[in-house]
Amino acid sequence: MKPIVEVKNLAVEYTRGDQKVRAVAGVDLSVGAGEILGLVGESGCGKSTLGKAIVGILQGAEGEVTFDGQPVTKIGRGQRDAHFRNLQMIFQDPYGSLNPRRKIGDQIADGPRIGGVSKGEAIEKAASLLERVGLPRNAVERYPHQFSGGQRQRIAIARALAISPKVIIADEPISALDTSSQAAVANLLVNLVEEFQMGLIFISHDLSIVRRISDRVAVMYLGKIVETGKTEEIWNFPAHPYTKALMSAIPHADGKALVLMSRCRSHSMMGEKSLVSCKMQVVRLKP
Ligand SMILES: Nc1ncnc2c1ncn2[C@@H]1O[C@H](COP(=O)(O)OP(=O)(O)O)[C@@H](O)[C@H]1O
Ligand SMILES: [Mg+2]
Repeated sequence: MKPIVEVKNLAVEYTRGDQKVRAVAGVDLSVGAGEILGLVGESGCGKSTLGKAIVGILQGAEGEVTFDGQPVTKIGRGQRDAHFRNLQMIFQDPYGSLNPRRKIGDQIADGPRIGGVSKGEAIEKAASLLERVGLPRNAVERYPHQFSGGQRQRIAIARALAISPKVIIADEPISALDTSSQAAVANLLVNLVEEFQMGLIFISHDLSIVRRISDRVAVMYLGKIVETGKTEEIWNFPAHPYTKALMSAIPHADGKALVLMSRCRSHSMMGEKSLVSCKMQVVRLKP
């Protein structure tokens, strides 16, 4: 598959006090049209940082992002060139990313209006996108607080779609939703990827959903992609010790599995050797 977005050697360093934290340490990845790439890895491994750097909203990021084979300039300067408009990001908390004081329709219309579309047309587009994501057209006249979490996430998706992006990066887009909305919003994303032939980078710590919807998976660990491949291959033949540990935690896809993974992390800070002990620890902890 021909990639739409390719990321090469992406690195991000944060400064915490007088210490430097390398949150993303040289990442390569790509996503094609109509493809879902699942990005997994425990909390703190750098997934959100990577997502933000790819869409160009993180100062100080280094590396190369190409879009349809063309390099995107100004990565890491907090300025977004025209190509970046083809990349949209959806966040975990849809309430935080919507302005509580502005009507839904106006917020969705912002993107098209910046692109030169008239107000009337942009609102009309907002109404039909709301319909597409499963909400009534008259939601354009309403405010974020009048909707549930799942509905707000649908609104955030409609807003992202309004500028016809080629790639969406969704950072834990269903983690904050109740169980029934989780499945519905995940299915909506799958359908939209198919319908609009977009690429989707789906960031999640929920491995069962990633397995269900992703074509390919990238496994991130301490700022690096340690393994990438077709979803079923990764699941059936994990190669890296960390992926094995992650996969062996799946049968307990509940709070317990997450505990196992975070233990894995504190051990792994010491390097490659402790990765193996991390894996053995997971196996031993299986009931
Ligand atoms: N703004 C920031 N300043 C300093 N450190 C940060 C900042 N954001 C994230 N980090 C650190 O960078 C690492 C990666 O964080 P993040 O990308 O949020 O991981 P994930 O999304 O996988 O949970 C963590 O160690 C986190 O504490
Ligand atoms: Mg995150």
